[in-house]
Amino acid sequence: MRPKRIGILTSGGDAPGMNAAIRAAVRTAIHYQIRIFGFKHGYNGVIKGDIVELKRNSVANIIQRGGTILGTARSAQFTTDQGMAKAKKTLNRYKIDALIVIGGDGSMRGAYEFAKKTRVKMIGLPGTIDNDLLGSDFTIGFDTAVNSALEAVDKIRDTASSLERLFFIEVMGRYAGFIGLAVGLAGGAEDVLIPETPTDIPGLAKQIKHNIEKGKKSNIVIVSEGDEAGDAFTIAEKIKAILDEDYRVAVLGYIQRGGAPTAIDRILASKLGYAAVNGLKKNMYGCMVGEINKKIVDTPFEKTYSRKKKIDPDIYTIIKILAE
Ligand code: F6P
Repeated sequence: MRPKRIGILTSGGDAPGMNAAIRAAVRTAIHYQIRIFGFKHGYNGVIKGDIVELKRNSVANIIQRGGTILGTARSAQFTTDQGMAKAKKTLNRYKIDALIVIGGDGSMRGAYEFAKKTRVKMIGLPGTIDNDLLGSDFTIGFDTAVNSALEAVDKIRDTASSLERLFFIEVMGRYAGFIGLAVGLAGGAEDVLIPETPTDIPGLAKQIKHNIEKGKKSNIVIVSEGDEAGDAFTIAEKIKAILDEDYRVAVLGYIQRGGAPTAIDRILASKLGYAAVNGLKKNMYGCMVGEINKKIVDTPFEKTYSRKKKIDPDIYTIIKILAE
């Protein structure tokens, strides 16, 4: 049955482009005469009944804004039976037929558990800078985060070359190296350390020594925050213990999560927000909509987070060959 009143929320870490996705979903719903309501601060808003009806002009002028106008949260309460029961009560009270969730793996897991328990119709959109969800080649926010990190890496390259210094630059990615690999390739890094591959500290030290001896003016090592050998400071100290080479560390941190979304993220978010409402209209739910090989596809919630999305090992090979 075609929904009459749907809800939308953003959950987990915010990602640039979430607003563009909200805008697309709201405008598409209104186009089909479906009323749409925003829940504030992720699943917490559903539990508390923190709800606002969204109209065409509620989403005016937000396509270019980072963050999320709905606010977001990682809701511990939503993982409990009690929290879910409260959330269900809210949806009944406001006669919400279906819910759109924009977020990362934790948000898709929450959607799956909630739908299983309550039979609420849920549809997801991949919104995380980490790009670690199966079911979409890219997640909303990834491209912007990579470009923000890249801008910083380019600036650091200037000072690194001028002073002929070794730099360790830490990028986000608690469990995944997608940001690290993309920034490493686009930034011409000398090496990239990611959680998916074993880090060879003596090998890295040898490589840096060789680079310096052959006259490389700067050495930039990109470190994903989740690398199993440690964070950028720890790795830098391990290298120093072998090489006794002066170094600097830059942790890029939360600047990667903010800022105006790139055109790529706005376009992806707009397509997926539109697709989510169309999916619900066709009675499609229990899945996340994403884009694979330029086609909009739907993937059952549980598949998006239960298996790890694989990095492309060729990218690492290219980085190493180009940095020789
Ligand atoms: O949004 C994803 C992510 O940026 C991870 O890469 C990072 O580890 C994590 O969120 C940190 O977010 P918070 O400090 O908000 O928990």
